[in-house]
Amino acid sequence: MSPFHVTRSLPEDATGAALRTDVRDGLTATPKTLPPKWFYDARGSKLFEQITRLDAYYPTRAEREILRTRATEIAAVSRARTLVELGSGSSEKTRYLLDALTDLRAYVPVDVSESALTRAGEALLAQRPELDVHALVADFTGSLTLPDTPGPRLVAFLGGTIGNLLPPERARFLTAVRSLLAPGDALLLGTDLVKDESVLVAAYDDTEGVTAAFNKNVLSVVNRELAADFRPEEFTHVAVWDAEREWIEMRLRSRTPQTVKIPALDLAVDFAAGEDLRTEVSAKFRAAGVDAELAAAGLVRTHWWTDAAERFALSLSVAA
Ligand SMILES: C[S@@+](CC[C@H](N)C(=O)[O-])C[C@H]1O[C@@H](n2cnc3c(N)ncnc32)[C@H](O)[C@@H]1O
Repeated sequence: MSPFHVTRSLPEDATGAALRTDVRDGLTATPKTLPPKWFYDARGSKLFEQITRLDAYYPTRAEREILRTRATEIAAVSRARTLVELGSGSSEKTRYLLDALTDLRAYVPVDVSESALTRAGEALLAQRPELDVHALVADFTGSLTLPDTPGPRLVAFLGGTIGNLLPPERARFLTAVRSLLAPGDALLLGTDLVKDESVLVAAYDDTEGVTAAFNKNVLSVVNRELAADFRPEEFTHVAVWDAEREWIEMRLRSRTPQTVKIPALDLAVDFAAGEDLRTEVSAKFRAAGVDAELAAAGLVRTHWWTDAAERFALSLSVAA
């Protein structure tokens, strides 16, 4: 049996301290916001996996199609011996890469969700006992120290998760990823593409209500961690397409005027009826925009693959 290590790169109370800062800053701002990373406790991670199986949620199927048809080519170009995956979640689509990378020695999934990493790691261990899996519980927007594993490295950032970062955060993130790349290493980036508004909104507002439950889960996380008294049923899930910024916004809209108490922060937050709390942006991309953001971070794109319906793209880039 190969080793399966889980390393917490976050200091003991880093998560709690970061949550307190994000909740205080976000709920006292106008408009109110919360960062999407707080969706992903054990329940949130499971709800996200349910979302990926919904008919309306095309990004996972589209990206899987690209990985299924292109993994051999990606493997031949990258010749990676270590696959690092940021925001790896269930690692479900990653199997195509793990199977195609014939020289692979180590897989380094990185996620804030320890429960997702553990479940994915256990499943992988059963299927790929020869692989060294170094799971890292870490925030990919912070500074990452990767384990000492053989190069070349392929750093994968799938799922369109980059779209959850705001433009300045994306710039910082890509610059940090660039600094992780040695000569011969590459970045494999999944980006959801701009498309018809009705398709986009349906993907973030499914009729089964799974995305609504996922969205409201952030309130349960704040209730549990900070002893807040959010009543999730007093908020409505809303998905809006911002045509100018080309992103979907997920929001929670207060049904009534209400005050939420957060004793751990000694804070009371007033919501007007109809007031929105923004919980996620999900930016959609065009090839030229991806290239410009990569270039600004010192990266140059070498490959661009889409699914047949051109809904989603995977790009490969290297240090410029
Ligand atoms: C949209 S899901 C994508 C999951 C998977 N890569 C996929 O393609 O299905 C985002 C993943 O990134 C993780 N995540 C979100 N923000 C993060 C952060 N700041 N640092 C590390 N992981 C994060 C979540 O826990 C979740 O597993």
